[in-house]
Amino acid sequence: MLQSASPTPTPAAALPMPELYRRVERHIPPFEWRILADDIAAILRLKAERNAVVLAHNYQTPDIFHTVADIVGDSLALAREAERTDADVIVLAGVHFMAETAKLLNPKKTVLIPDLKAGCSLAASITAADIRLLRERHPGVPIVTYVNTSAAVKAESDVCCTSSNAKKIIEGLGVPKVIMLPDEYLARNTAAQTKVEIIAWSGHCEVHERFTPEDIRSLRESHHGIIVLAHPECPPEVIAECDFSGSTAAMAGYVGKERPARVVLLTECSMSDNVALQYPDLEFVRPCNLCPHMKRITLPKIRCSLETMTHEVTVDPAIADRARRTVERMLTMG
Ligand code: 13P
Ligand code: SF4
Repeated sequence: MLQSASPTPTPAAALPMPELYRRVERHIPPFEWRILADDIAAILRLKAERNAVVLAHNYQTPDIFHTVADIVGDSLALAREAERTDADVIVLAGVHFMAETAKLLNPKKTVLIPDLKAGCSLAASITAADIRLLRERHPGVPIVTYVNTSAAVKAESDVCCTSSNAKKIIEGLGVPKVIMLPDEYLARNTAAQTKVEIIAWSGHCEVHERFTPEDIRSLRESHHGIIVLAHPECPPEVIAECDFSGSTAAMAGYVGKERPARVVLLTECSMSDNVALQYPDLEFVRPCNLCPHMKRITLPKIRCSLETMTHEVTVDPAIADRARRTVERMLTMG
C-alpha cells in the first residue's frame, strides 16, 4: 500500500515553550523552533538575572519581535520607552542610532547593542561638520534632525524628529523656514503637508529609496483591491501613489484599525511578517526590501550580548548633554 509522504504536523504542546511558540507558529516551522528555543530560553533567563529589557524595533525578525522583546515599536516609541524603563540594562534590538538615543535618555543605565556594525545609511550620510556648515549658510534657520543620526549630529541640531512626529515638530517651532535632515525624501514628503518651507539634505534610506511608483502600479494590477501602505522614507513619487503613508507604528495601526482584506507594506521585510502574525485573517502581499543593518541583530547575538555585557554603547560626554537636549525637546513637543 502506498503511504503518504507528508509528515504529521508537530503540535505546539510537544515543543519547548509551547505558549511562546504559538505566537510564531504560522511563521516558524517546528524544526526551526527546536533550534531557536535554546537561545530564547537563555535570553529569558539572562534578562531576569540582569534586570534587563529588550527593546526591539518593528523591523526585527519575528523570532526576536514576538518572543524575547519586552517592548516593540517605531523609533519614537522606543525612545519614549527607553526613558520610562526601570530596568538596569537595555538591550537594543535595532540599529546603533536607536541604542545611542536610549543611552542619551538613560545616562546611568547600561545600554547594549548586540552588533556594533548595525548602522544606517541615513545616519552615515551626514556629519557634525556638515551641520556647522549648514548653520553658516542659513543663519538663524532652525535645524530639525531625524533621529536616524549620530549623537554628534544631534548635538549640533536644535530638535529631533521621527517619521511619526516630523510635521508636528516642524510646525511647533512656529517659524516660516526650517532645515530638515538628513533624509531628503522624508523632508520632501513632510514639505508636501505643511506651509513651512523646508531646506533638505541629500541622505536616503537604502531600503526605502528602492521602491518605485511602477512597483505600486504592478501590485494594483496583479492584486485586485490591494491597499498600499508606504513609509515616508520612500521617494515622493511613491508616496503620491500609495493609499496611506506613516511611520512603522502608524502602518501597523492602520492595519489594525482599517483591517484591509489585502494589503502591502512598502517597507522593510520583517515589518509585514510581524504584523501578519497579529492579523491571520488578512492577506499580506510581501514584496519588500531587507535592511542589512537591522538584520545583523540575531537571537544568538542578543544572547551573547547579555552573557558578556557587550557591546556597551557610550556617548562622548563632550556632546552628550547637547545631544540629549535635542531628543528631550522632541519628546516634549511631540
Ligand atoms: P520608524 O520610526 O518609522 O520606525 O522608522 C525607523 C526606520 O529606520 C525606518 O527605516
Ligand atoms: Fe536606516 Fe533605512 Fe535601515 Fe531604517 S531601514 S535603519 S533608515 S537603512
